[in-house]
Amino acid sequence: MDSKSDVLINEPSLVDPFGRAVNYLRLSVTDRCNLRCTYCMAEDMTFLPRQQILSLEELRDVATAFVDLGVKKIRLTGGEPLIRRDIIKLVSAIASLPSLDEVTMTTNGMLLSKMSQPLKDAGLGRINISIDSLKTDRFKDLTRVGDLDLWHNGIKAAKKAAFDKIKLNTVILAGFNDDEVLDLARYAVDNDMDISFIEEMPLGAISSHERSKTQVTSEQVREQLEREFSLIDSVETTGGPSRYMQVVGSTSKIGFISPMSNNFCSSCNRVRMTAEGRFLLCLGNEHSMDLRQVMRSHPGDSELLRAKIVEALKNKPERHHFDANRTDIVRFMNMTGG
Ligand code: 5AD
Ligand code: SF4
Repeated sequence: MDSKSDVLINEPSLVDPFGRAVNYLRLSVTDRCNLRCTYCMAEDMTFLPRQQILSLEELRDVATAFVDLGVKKIRLTGGEPLIRRDIIKLVSAIASLPSLDEVTMTTNGMLLSKMSQPLKDAGLGRINISIDSLKTDRFKDLTRVGDLDLWHNGIKAAKKAAFDKIKLNTVILAGFNDDEVLDLARYAVDNDMDISFIEEMPLGAISSHERSKTQVTSEQVREQLEREFSLIDSVETTGGPSRYMQVVGSTSKIGFISPMSNNFCSSCNRVRMTAEGRFLLCLGNEHSMDLRQVMRSHPGDSELLRAKIVEALKNKPERHHFDANRTDIVRFMNMTGG
């Protein structure tokens, strides 16, 4: 019996020392982005040289290794995943992995007008599209360079391509867009979409604002929403720091992603790969393993790659300790994968 079958026999192989089974991988395919959202990036970001980014083959090999170890869902992230060359090929390759349930993507939507249908045809199941303001000028300010009309064109194309259910992702910042909570929720409900409100995390040093002054808790967002909507608890959970509520009288769900105010680490089912091939055990900690180095020093050795992943999982931290006043996590979100 070869060692691959050994691994498969011991399913689920990806159980960490706290008994959490990992079945969800977030795979960043690039650190680059066509936007510069103020809470995500510094104005003058430097990006990684191309040779430091995982190649298409390496991304496929990593995905295959995780799926062989029992991962059921892969989300492609960035930076902006749609600016990665050959992203459609990668989606096809991952979607065709036999025991994977679903491949999904988080995108800023800027390129969806051309790419929605090819993505759908390649096997992408669902998409999350980021939107922090529905006002043209404010959208431009928050993203530094974004054009809201392009975003709307992207949404139209995504709806036409009939992805299962589109979910919007919104980061709420006090003084910037906290007055748009109801408008954004109404937009989602009117368009048959789900929407998640995300608390800003202290990832990377930024200069546009002080993160401790822009914090809005999920609880505060929910209070605003309940002035207009009737919300009931939804049983749905994706594992990780989110909770969902159903909007009564609609098909939409509203999610609350509360990494700052709440700690759902005990049910965490996820791990991440950064664009440069660092296997990251937790968003809020620096524990990681360099899988690029493993792949480049032992090309084609899938057995070693799986063994290294299993070994690294022993270091998955029990929980994160985010603090908006602290900036010791130097990783920006675009490095980490949203
Ligand atoms: N805190 C919270 N969310 C962030 N995102 C990017 N940077 C941060 C941050 N510091 C979000 C994006 C997008 C998702 C991929 O991650 O807005 O919705
Ligand atoms: Fe790009 Fe997303 Fe970061 Fe905005 S939040 S700069 S869209 S990676």
